[in-house]
Amino acid sequence: DQTNLDFKIVLLGDSSVGKSSLVLRLCKNKFSENLEPTIGGSCVIQNIEIDESEVKLKIWDTAGQERFHSLTPLYYRGAKGALIIYDITNFGSFERAKDWIFELRENGEQDSKIILVGNKIDLEAKAVVKDVTAQKFADKNGLSFFETSAKTGEGVNQVFFALAQMLLGK
Ligand code: GTP
Ligand code: MG
Repeated sequence: DQTNLDFKIVLLGDSSVGKSSLVLRLCKNKFSENLEPTIGGSCVIQNIEIDESEVKLKIWDTAGQERFHSLTPLYYRGAKGALIIYDITNFGSFERAKDWIFELRENGEQDSKIILVGNKIDLEAKAVVKDVTAQKFADKNGLSFFETSAKTGEGVNQVFFALAQMLLGK
């Protein structure tokens, strides 16, 4: 009756929304102002402790650039959880996040756990996607919604922790 504590998850979203930065913050507690765009995708493993169990997340960080779009199904195949990320200062990235959610629902794993994530909340003064707008969309579509800053670290551990809990059925 050993519970499965090993999950593949995927990060999806437009280029430069901060997917790689969120992974860098989670795994190394670092931030860089000038990360290179991701090519294809890359995988890191991070353990998260929940109620004295170690949950192992195999995190696939994908490339947001359009030219890599056709590869993305390879990365979300088998993923039990997904973070769909947009940049709160870029309205187009929010529209793109919605597309990713519909694509995952259609072609991804059945019952995969999806969290909508608005990143770059340290740039709140420049925000164009209001949190109420995103929250409304999330509620309507039965998704969890979080806001993060990979730069300050705000909300980052919490969002991965929340996803891990959802994967455990909590
Ligand atoms: P692709 O790999 O091309 O899909 O992009 P990405 O989503 O991985 O974006 P990346 O993490 O490379 O970040 C893009 C730029 O945004 C970088 O210059 C980061 O420094 C910056 N950035 C990422 N997260 C934040 C954040 O929370 N706040 C601020 N101010 N800048 C951020
Ligand atoms: Mg990247």
